[in-house]
Amino acid sequence: MLWSFTQLHFALLGGFALNLMLLVHSQDRQSGFISIDCGLQTDSSYSEKVTGINYISDATFIDTGESKSISPDYRDNYTQPSWSVRSFPEGARNCYKINVTPGNKYFMRAGFTYGNYDGQNKIPEFDLHLGPNLWDTVRFEYASDVNTHRELIHVALRNYIHVCLVNTGSGVPFISYLELRPLPNASYQTTTGSLALVTRCDMGQRPDRRGYRYPFDIHDRFWSSYNELYEWTQVSTSSTIETESDDPFQPPSVVMSTASTPKDPSDSLSIIFVLPDINAEYYSYLHFAEVERVNQSRFQYIFRNGRRTFGPFAPPQYLSNTIHSTGAWSSYAQYANISITRAENSTLPPILNAFEIYMVKNFIEAETNQEDVDAIAYIKSTYKIKRNWQGDPCAPQNFVWEGVKCNYQDFESPRIISLNLSSNGLTGEIAASISNLIMIQSLDLSNNNLTGPIPDFLSKLPNLTVLNLEKNKFTGSVPVGLNERKNSGSLSLSLCDNAHLSQPVSCTLKKKHGFVIPIVVSIAGIFILLLVVAAIFWWGFKRKRQHDVIDAKSIPQYGSLESTKRQFTYSEILKMTNNFERVLGRGGFGTVYHGYMDHTQVAIKMLSASSVQGFQQFHAEVNLLMRVHHKNLTSLVGYCNDETQVGLVYEYMANGNLLNHLSDSRSSILTWEDRLRIATDAAQGLEYLHCGCKPPIMHRDVKSTNILLNESFQAKISDFGLSRNFPTHDGTHASSHLAGTPGYLDPEFYLSSRLNEKSDVYSFGVVLLEIITSRPVLTRTHERIHISQWVGLMLANGDINSIVDPRLEGNFNTNSVWKAVEIAMACVSINAIKRPSMSQVVVDLKECLATECAQTNRSRVTGFNNSNALMADNSIVRLTPSVR
Ligand SMILES: *[C@@H]1O[C@H](CO)[C@@H](O)[C@H](O)[C@H]1NC(C)=O
Ligand SMILES: *[C@@H]1O[C@H](CO)[C@@H](O)[C@H](O)[C@H]1NC(C)=O
Ligand SMILES: *[C@@H]1O[C@H](CO)[C@@H](O)[C@H](O)[C@H]1NC(C)=O
Ligand SMILES: *[C@@H]1O[C@H](CO)[C@@H](O)[C@H](O)[C@H]1NC(C)=O
Ligand SMILES: *[C@@H]1O[C@H](CO)[C@@H](O)[C@H](O)[C@H]1NC(C)=O
Ligand SMILES: *[C@@H]1O[C@H](CO)[C@@H](O)[C@H](O)[C@H]1NC(C)=O
Ligand SMILES: *[C@@H]1O[C@H](CO)[C@@H](O)[C@H](O)[C@H]1NC(C)=O
Ligand SMILES: *[C@@H]1O[C@H](CO)[C@@H](O)[C@H](O)[C@H]1NC(C)=O
Repeated sequence: MLWSFTQLHFALLGGFALNLMLLVHSQDRQSGFISIDCGLQTDSSYSEKVTGINYISDATFIDTGESKSISPDYRDNYTQPSWSVRSFPEGARNCYKINVTPGNKYFMRAGFTYGNYDGQNKIPEFDLHLGPNLWDTVRFEYASDVNTHRELIHVALRNYIHVCLVNTGSGVPFISYLELRPLPNASYQTTTGSLALVTRCDMGQRPDRRGYRYPFDIHDRFWSSYNELYEWTQVSTSSTIETESDDPFQPPSVVMSTASTPKDPSDSLSIIFVLPDINAEYYSYLHFAEVERVNQSRFQYIFRNGRRTFGPFAPPQYLSNTIHSTGAWSSYAQYANISITRAENSTLPPILNAFEIYMVKNFIEAETNQEDVDAIAYIKSTYKIKRNWQGDPCAPQNFVWEGVKCNYQDFESPRIISLNLSSNGLTGEIAASISNLIMIQSLDLSNNNLTGPIPDFLSKLPNLTVLNLEKNKFTGSVPVGLNERKNSGSLSLSLCDNAHLSQPVSCTLKKKHGFVIPIVVSIAGIFILLLVVAAIFWWGFKRKRQHDVIDAKSIPQYGSLESTKRQFTYSEILKMTNNFERVLGRGGFGTVYHGYMDHTQVAIKMLSASSVQGFQQFHAEVNLLMRVHHKNLTSLVGYCNDETQVGLVYEYMANGNLLNHLSDSRSSILTWEDRLRIATDAAQGLEYLHCGCKPPIMHRDVKSTNILLNESFQAKISDFGLSRNFPTHDGTHASSHLAGTPGYLDPEFYLSSRLNEKSDVYSFGVVLLEIITSRPVLTRTHERIHISQWVGLMLANGDINSIVDPRLEGNFNTNSVWKAVEIAMACVSINAIKRPSMSQVVVDLKECLATECAQTNRSRVTGFNNSNALMADNSIVRLTPSVR
């Protein structure tokens, strides 16, 4: 069931078993299609054999890059648009400029077929920009997968779009094809933003099909087969599925004529998929049509993440009906669950024919002011300027055009305020379009071969303060307006070395005259510059300081341990442990010994050789773990890797593991407040692994014996990350060997054999129940009752006191216990989607702790006869168990 969008292979470019009859008349339906084969020879074009789509060369859309061909080995596997690529070994950003109709909605697709075009057999990774904004990062999910593409539904705001390939230092960017298809305005509407495709599936397609596109789909969307169809029963019709003439979606009849329905008619159809970004917003489009000739009723509901969002409705017979949310939704979870369920009075099970999921992309970086762009584009073409003049002139700021300076204001279009074309070999007259750069403050055209008169419009540029026309071949006279502005001191004008001017400017005189102002201007300028630099410096410093503060908070101080972490030899380990004299414990990975490292106590875990999978991997992991620091994670301070002897050196945790303190019949027991603090500490440690680490680390074996307590009873998570921390490429975590401990293991693991962060949440919930009850996770009786079942039973009786560890003798705030039980029960939900995230758990536990502390503080004030008063006194020293 669990299925990830990244697993979709869009290999469908390859094999279309297509009835060629369909190609007849296909040409006229392609109106508005822009189909660019990148790297194709200049001026060539062809009609693609399978689809009949006309592709043209990209030469007129871009100035840079090199044409290359993919290796012949790959040719047969891809259609012609993939055969050639344009690659960009030069320049950080290279852009296509494609003319479009402003206000129109476009379905855009950029394709990348590596096909070893460079003979390096090394797949690059790079960014794809739409104008000044990041569209997506182009990466290939699998080494064997040399083909990928990105799709976007976007309303063009201008009469052009820029598609840019940006080198991010991970290989040379390249592109195979670019396709734009106009869409009706009424289709795929959003309140804000564009839509990036997450997945698009045909729910009944025969598995031997590799997808449908144009001409089946008039909008040329790719419809691929849902890859877990075997979970359901397929139904189909040979009749055509019609669409209403005003249906903006127009799903193709071949796609709509097949559908899936549950194998068990009483079941629902649930599509569970991984969301690429848990914080993003999404839109879903579900396409329905009744394909069976029924004289019974089929009524169904749509649920999303457990909430009913639509229905009851009956799919119309042989007619497409697209149901979509009018607003974006978000899941705040790694998964979303879209489910079609049968209505109470329906006599038939639910069906679904096809669906699409899109992620909202808010492109917030503004493009340069349109007039400025038009003006500079004319200047570029007039003088045939090479340089890096591609894409948007000002945005993003790190790709601003050479010689151009801009003024940036939040959310407003940047304006060009300076243009420097000095020494660019310019010939001809001063381009009239310069007059449209109305915000320009500085214009430097010096040291070129410009001819003709100096135009009067220069004196009309309101903000112009610097004009340098030195070393050119201008003729005629200097416009009166310019002289006036120069004389009034508002303009620094340089005209030296223009031998052909009718009133030759005496440079020396000019210089004397013309230098006073520039010097004043430049001294003022330098002063302002210094102020700006100082301000920037101060600001940056302040920011950095703020960063430092944040970092300092999250990085705990380890004193001597911190500075000495390193690799040890086996003999050093022997010395440190005094020949493994004292055993601290035995765990799944090996035995833990007590030791000393420079007079500091440490715990040294010797791993059984079989638990370590190869030197390289061990190294990578240890290096990663040595970088993981959090006050609630036991820190790895060193390691040993001598041939067969593998050991890890951790900080020493004086008070052992949590389970001992919960189960031991020792004289001191942990108070309720101690327990809440320990729970909060542990939750924070886990949250850090999930949210603070890149890549996120899943613990996979959270249990009370893996929560250790230091001398002040601060809890730290141990045993995380070993050999198991790396997510698989589909975003979930496949387990190579069985992880977890019975009783703590996520029940969904038995169904899916996959673990994810929510599995840690489950295990943490079990630990929290142990903390509350001090009961074993599984009863030692024959029935092996799980702690969550037991608590569930007790809760049904409504008696909270019988749940809590009786040794606490009622010394707790009932509200905080209720809250803690609630959190724990949410964590142990059988259904992973219902479990909170660790971040949520941390927030809730802190609240719970605050409730408890408020209570103890009150009792501290109200009475000394109250037994809470004793606890309150003890709680001054953090987490000292109250002595009874
Ligand atoms: C081309 O496709 C075939 C069949 O799917 C596959 O066996 C072969 O490995 C592919 N060739 C390349 C070079 O990827
Ligand atoms: C779509 O909307 C834009 C702007 O609202 C409008 O200019 C354009 O004509 C519309 N296109 C169609 C096909 O209705
Ligand atoms: C319609 O329903 C009736 C009774 O419910 C049944 O006898 C008949 O065969 C059905 N017709 C079709 C086409 O399914
Ligand atoms: C998905 O949602 C449906 C309807 O709410 C529910 O019955 C089903 O159990 C959910 N599936 C999972 C795996 O959460
Ligand atoms: C089933 O219920 C829906 C609304 O709840 C109603 O519109 C529909 O007519 C009912 N169908 C039958 C066959 O009763
Ligand atoms: C223009 O660029 C040249 C060198 O590229 C530099 O010497 C000159 O100072 C610049 N002009 C202005 C006004 O910044
Ligand atoms: C102007 O043109 C001449 C002849 O083409 C060339 O030799 C000279 O270098 C050019 N000067 C500048 C500043 O570009
Ligand atoms: C540029 O000119 C506009 C009006 O023409 C004015 O509002 C603006 O303040 C000027 N900017 C600068 C930096 O002088």
